[in-house]
Amino acid sequence: MLNFDLNIEQKEINEMAMKFARQEMIPKSAEFDQKAEMPLEILEKAWSLGLVNTCIPTEFGGTGFTTIDSMIITEALAYGCLGMNTAIMANDLALLPIVIGGSEEQKKKFLTPFTESYKIAAFCLTEPGNGSDAAGIKTTIKDGGDHWIVNGQKMWITNAGYADLFTLYGTIDPELKHKGISALVIEKGTAGIEIGAPEKKMGHCCSDTRSVTFKNVLVPKENMLGSPGDGWKIAMKTLDHSRPMVAASAVGGAQCSLDYATEYSKERIQFNKPIAGHQAIQFMLADMATKVEASRLLVFKSAWLIDQGLSNTKLASMAKAFASDSFMQVATDAVQIYGGYGYSKEYPVEKLMRDAKLIQIYEGTSQIQRLVIAKEVLK
Ligand code: CAA
Repeated sequence: MLNFDLNIEQKEINEMAMKFARQEMIPKSAEFDQKAEMPLEILEKAWSLGLVNTCIPTEFGGTGFTTIDSMIITEALAYGCLGMNTAIMANDLALLPIVIGGSEEQKKKFLTPFTESYKIAAFCLTEPGNGSDAAGIKTTIKDGGDHWIVNGQKMWITNAGYADLFTLYGTIDPELKHKGISALVIEKGTAGIEIGAPEKKMGHCCSDTRSVTFKNVLVPKENMLGSPGDGWKIAMKTLDHSRPMVAASAVGGAQCSLDYATEYSKERIQFNKPIAGHQAIQFMLADMATKVEASRLLVFKSAWLIDQGLSNTKLASMAKAFASDSFMQVATDAVQIYGGYGYSKEYPVEKLMRDAKLIQIYEGTSQIQRLVIAKEVLK
């Protein structure tokens, strides 16, 4: 009944994505982190290999990857660089609402161009005053006759400075709470969109994060996903799909931290033997490896449920919380094993520790995931 093996195609996908991570991402990861610059050439190359926008169905030009396949790709790309992978994942996060809630016409119009050339998308839910409490967002969507009129500000928007397309959430009536939330697709260049300066972040420095302000932005009526009030369910279902992906990125980062720590522990000599010969280090490596393995299993189960057409809300949050908390611990232990060298920017593990922190925060904090899990358990 159970089979933990990847099939031949999945092994090939993994090999291709890992080769890309090792050859194209790892050698440039520290440089782009320090420059805090989006590596557009590398991202475009990933797109040309079919590693970006894995959520787009084949009918609209997509690659036809299963959700499990896209987890394999995400883990590999995050192994290469968490920041670059965030830029890649943010496209899926922004396109998934169209895949989930868009009409055939909207899918054709908005998804297909992403399969024809490298384009960038941004998911606009969070606001300066509303992060975890997503149902309380204040951005308004008013009926202006021919158009929707959007006013409000979004915060921490990944890819914002480069986005060709924004999926925006706003409310048609704040009194309605989550039942008033509606989703719009807004194209780059629409009058009234103001993009903020890049945020200076602790990690994921080569991904682009900014505020986006919408001032009397007129959006064509046909750009609403579903009907007014459908936005909340679309957003929640999107997060059910994207959280396993974020968890997969945590597995990639944790595996990378473990691999660096393992190699280093075999080379570093203290008390006349490699530190890997000391039980204190062995116990740390054992716990790190167990956390990576357990996280990966949760990722695969939460993705498998989607591929079976089953609800994965609980498993998606379990995978996100467990894998991101594990990554934070594994990366911290990798720094500990490297000792003073681990704290230096000359070595790769301090970046992994900085990058791990964000995975516990974005797309729902570890605490929000526990709220979701508890609600599901208590149902
Ligand atoms: N699928 C379908 N429906 C769902 C659902 C799901 N996964 N989750 C909740 N719902 C439904 C509930 O059944 C309920 O339905 P009814 O109206 O029929 O009662 C309704 O939605 C409201 O649900 P809750 O009462 O649970 O809502 P809540 O206000 O208490 O909040 C929450 C729920 C889970 C905490 C939600 O606010 C949440 O997920 N917050 C975190 C937001 C988040 O993850 N933001 C990340 C932004 S993206 C990002 O980080 C981007 C980036 O660029 C990197």
